[in-house]
Amino acid sequence: MPIEVKNLTYIYNPGTPFETRALDDITLTVNDGEFVGIIGHTGSGKSTFIQHLNALIKPTSGSVLVDGEDINESKDKSKLRQRVGLVFQYPEYQLFEETVIKDVCFGPLNMGMSDEEARENAVRALKAVGMSDADWEKSPFALSGGKKRRCAIAGVLAMHPEVLILDEPTAGLDPVGRREILKIVSDIHAFGTTVIMVTHSMDDAARLCSRIIVLEQGRVALDGSCAEVFSHAEELTRMGLTIPQAAFLKQRLNARGFTLPEDIYTIESLSRALIGQLKKR
Ligand SMILES: Nc1ncnc2c1ncn2[C@@H]1O[C@H](COP(=O)(O)OP(=O)(O)OP(=O)(O)O)[C@@H](O)[C@H]1O
Ligand SMILES: [Mg+2]
Repeated sequence: MPIEVKNLTYIYNPGTPFETRALDDITLTVNDGEFVGIIGHTGSGKSTFIQHLNALIKPTSGSVLVDGEDINESKDKSKLRQRVGLVFQYPEYQLFEETVIKDVCFGPLNMGMSDEEARENAVRALKAVGMSDADWEKSPFALSGGKKRRCAIAGVLAMHPEVLILDEPTAGLDPVGRREILKIVSDIHAFGTTVIMVTHSMDDAARLCSRIIVLEQGRVALDGSCAEVFSHAEELTRMGLTIPQAAFLKQRLNARGFTLPEDIYTIESLSRALIGQLKKR
């Protein structure tokens, strides 16, 4: 189920002194099975962009096609939002029921499942995100930041989306919490779901994503594999972004006489290449 974005432009508050062109003529396609990272400076349009992919925002001009159909022309938005699930940047915006289990049941019930079926799907989703049953009857608002995120992810997973979109799913979490959430996301992708993830972490993007899209002032500045995107170190730096730590270290080592290959951007690939060269010396 490809998502095709055609000449997408979005302007907040048009015709007012607060007019902001948040997206400017974006054209791209996300194909089945991809793990796409969306990167960009704060205010570059990442959240605005992904909210267009399940019709939460209507384009000012241009279109978004899912399976060849313009999503803003279809009447049944809830079916679309079940197929293209979005986990918000702030989980508080997503959670609203009295208990975790009720919250996660909401989507399946809305899809027309019976109480029993909805609960089965919710329980499966809660288990997939590692939420123990001790938390199921708690208020989602009483949970830690990491658990709130898991609950929000479970709420979307319970509807079995074909595409899962996450807006900075690790923001505000400690390193252990980050690792746990990223493991959940990478497992979901491994089971065949297309994933689109907004992130500020180049290292996470390098480790997980098969493709990276860099936004700058509402436009696509770079779009390609990790190797392609991270080869533009100067351009990324100019945009106020970094390159992965491993790529930075590789550059420093090469400046000191190593000849490590260009396409290194994870610690694992750097250590392999480095050991190889040290053995030859
Ligand atoms: N509700 C809104 N009303 C008016 N302008 C907005 C609104 N939301 C976002 N903007 C503006 O649109 C532009 C893109 O914002 P957006 O939130 O999509 O960026 P972002 O890349 O997600 O940023 P961040 O990394 O801070 O989350 C920014 O200039 C922002 O100020
Ligand atoms: Mg954002």
